[in-house]
Amino acid sequence: MARYRQGQDHWPPFAVAEGVDAEPLGRLSAPALPAWQTTELEELGKQLFFDPRLSGSGQLACASCHDPDLGWGDGRATSFGHDRQRGTRNAMTLLNVAYFDSFFWDGRASSLEEQALLPIEDPIEMAAELDTVLESLNAIPGYLDTFQRALGTSSVTASALGKALAAFQRTLVSRPSRFDRFLAGKASLNDQEIEGLHLFRTQARCMNCHHGPLFSDGRFHNIGLALVGRRYEDLGRFLITGREADKGAFRTPSLRDLLYTTPWMHNGLFVNLRGTLATYNLGMRQGLRDGQPNMSALVEPLGLSHEELDALEAFLHTLSRRPARVHPPALPASPNKMP
Ligand code: HEC
Ligand code: HEC
Repeated sequence: MARYRQGQDHWPPFAVAEGVDAEPLGRLSAPALPAWQTTELEELGKQLFFDPRLSGSGQLACASCHDPDLGWGDGRATSFGHDRQRGTRNAMTLLNVAYFDSFFWDGRASSLEEQALLPIEDPIEMAAELDTVLESLNAIPGYLDTFQRALGTSSVTASALGKALAAFQRTLVSRPSRFDRFLAGKASLNDQEIEGLHLFRTQARCMNCHHGPLFSDGRFHNIGLALVGRRYEDLGRFLITGREADKGAFRTPSLRDLLYTTPWMHNGLFVNLRGTLATYNLGMRQGLRDGQPNMSALVEPLGLSHEELDALEAFLHTLSRRPARVHPPALPASPNKMP
């Protein structure tokens, strides 16, 4: 264990299954930004993100389901949208979204620009017509001017709206955690946390999927929560690709700031870290009757003792730091409808 305190070059090697190409754990570097991303565009995107005029009812903003005070999710197992209709999936945290290259639990969007327009038209999310939203944004002088300055467009187009929302979301990056400061030699971890780090990298098999600075491989795995054949069945990635191997697979979430992003998993089924770890320890088979078909071979019973689960839990705590407070911005005024 002492080797963990001598710097990352001295750590024992991590253990993953054959064929898994895992990246070492590490600190996040600044995300890659597209050429058009400027502070002005980010600020504009922030206003739009908090603006309920992007919804059909005029009452739901992106921030209604991605609330900065709720870890950029909505704190619910699954979201309520337009007319309080219940969606089937958990609102994902938007922290560190800049580091992924496919979006949603099933990866159905391949850029943040493209993704941003989807909730606006989704009938159970914001339930608006994009054309109508663009028309009302174009009638708000405050927005029109800023779009002109930030992107040089003479009107608010769908692509400009997507760029602004994406630019803001790329600023949502985790603050350095205690683990990051440990890696930088600026904080220490106690023996239990170090044992947990070691287990995470070895016997607990977590690094097969949660690896690299993001603690996610950005890939899709079925860890047994698709509830195949049951009322809340969700086939995940399969619904997009139609490939048998993708049945019940969801994108591996990051584990950064985990304590602030409950409930967890695509269906919000898990809220308690110890319970989650205990379920992984049983190979994700507990309570799911005879297990679920097509489960990833990377998920197996782990044989960890109570003390080892305590250590793993303690380590995961070092990855969480309360997200920075964000205040809703002032929004440009709607045009006066009276003559
Ligand atoms: C009614 C609640 C709701 C609203 C409103 C909403 N979202 Fe979401 N958001 C969700 C849910 C639920 C998911 C996961 C959906 C899925 O995987 O099928 C999600 C996923 C996302 C993701 C994917 C994150 C990732 O890591 O892949 C992004 C980005 C996102 N939303 C941005 C936005 C933006 C921008 C808006 C406003 C234009 C918005 N959302 C409005 C509920 C909402
Ligand atoms: C086979 C790949 C794989 C392995 C191995 C794995 N995970 Fe996961 N993990 C995932 C996927 C995929 C999800 C999302 C599953 C879903 O929503 O249905 C997930 C979800 C989670 C979540 C919920 C996070 C959130 O924001 O919803 C936690 C916590 C977690 N894993 C911790 C761990 C720990 C700790 C280990 C090691 C004991 C581990 N995982 C091993 C792939 C894996």
